[in-house]
Amino acid sequence: MNKKTITDIDVTGKKALVRVDFNVPLSSKDPNDDITVTDDTRVRAALPTLNYLLDNGAALILCSHLGRPSSPADAQFAMNPVAARLSQLLDRPVQKLDEVVGASVTAAAANLQPGQVMLLENSRFHPGEKKNDPALSGQLAALADVYVGDAFGSAHRAHASTEGAARAIRAKGGPVVAGFLMGKEIAALGTAVANPPHPYIAIMGGAKISDKIKLIENLRHSADKILIGGGMANTFLKAQGHEVGKSLVEADALPEAERLLAKAAKQIVLPTDVVVAAAFAADAPADIAPIYAIPAHKMALDVGPDTIELFNDALQGARLVVWNGPMGVFEFEHFAQGTNALAALLAELAGLGVQVIIGGGDSAAAVRQAGLTDKMTHVSTGGGASLELLEGKELPGISVLDNR
Ligand code: 3PG
Repeated sequence: MNKKTITDIDVTGKKALVRVDFNVPLSSKDPNDDITVTDDTRVRAALPTLNYLLDNGAALILCSHLGRPSSPADAQFAMNPVAARLSQLLDRPVQKLDEVVGASVTAAAANLQPGQVMLLENSRFHPGEKKNDPALSGQLAALADVYVGDAFGSAHRAHASTEGAARAIRAKGGPVVAGFLMGKEIAALGTAVANPPHPYIAIMGGAKISDKIKLIENLRHSADKILIGGGMANTFLKAQGHEVGKSLVEADALPEAERLLAKAAKQIVLPTDVVVAAAFAADAPADIAPIYAIPAHKMALDVGPDTIELFNDALQGARLVVWNGPMGVFEFEHFAQGTNALAALLAELAGLGVQVIIGGGDSAAAVRQAGLTDKMTHVSTGGGASLELLEGKELPGISVLDNR
């Protein structure tokens, strides 16, 4: 990686503004409830960076967004539950501030000692965050000597805390470096983009092809094969002339699907059978149908066993596998088998030394649900960020970091 990291600088006695991605699922949308963090993966993922900085004598000013609040009136998105969980995981107090910037924050930062941790209020409670307002960036930068970018999940957002504050710290002569999580994500996903070992097999899924067109377009130039499942496969099957019954099809994307099929005919591998049901419901009875015999009154909700066999064959000999998007409606048990079988297959390949990278978001959730996270080479903490990186885009939260 050509970016500087926390090990390249001296952090002893320094105040570090650390942008983390603590955008985690919460137990309730009601601010009057006792809200807790229901999945702390992203908090745990930041611990190596935070512990390193603390062990090396830094004082930490942590900053993150949480959810998509319109204003502080969306009080269910206050950072308090995150501070509580972080404090447990770090096994030390975390001072939670009730402002993003302001007098209370300035005073707390001024008093902060090496080894101490404070967490600012949800950065999106401030109207300047999403506008990348230089006034907010400047106030954040004034709190610290060093900027640490560890929020890979937010690296595709050029916001005041992800990009603006980094530039503002540089403007005052401070270092702007990557944390360990950011470094790990860039190394894993960056390999797939810049220098993939071959054979490189990409597996795409998820509901919508329109979300993944740019990605498939980019993969066409780098991957040896592109295996496609999930809801988006229906649009490709329809483009090939199959009748797909009541399955989700994006009519607007049909011309694009036809174009991709024509251009990448040798690379794209589509399902040969699907699991169908008459309704989109967890308890809908499930059947298997070959793709040329999908009943008119049913919809495809998962890939079938022959497809998994086909994908298994296509994966043999791979040196790199990148998976983005589930094979079906894995939240419903009846329609999770394709996704689970693929996750098991990939875990086995990773055990044999194949580099297996799981994009964030739904695929990471599916692997977690299957209990196989630890078996993969890398499971990204970024949903939109991993997608944009794999599309070949430059991410502002990465570009802004100091080069080596
Ligand atoms: C994510 O969960 O993908 C990131 O935290 C970014 O969140 P956002 O899509 O609300 O900007």
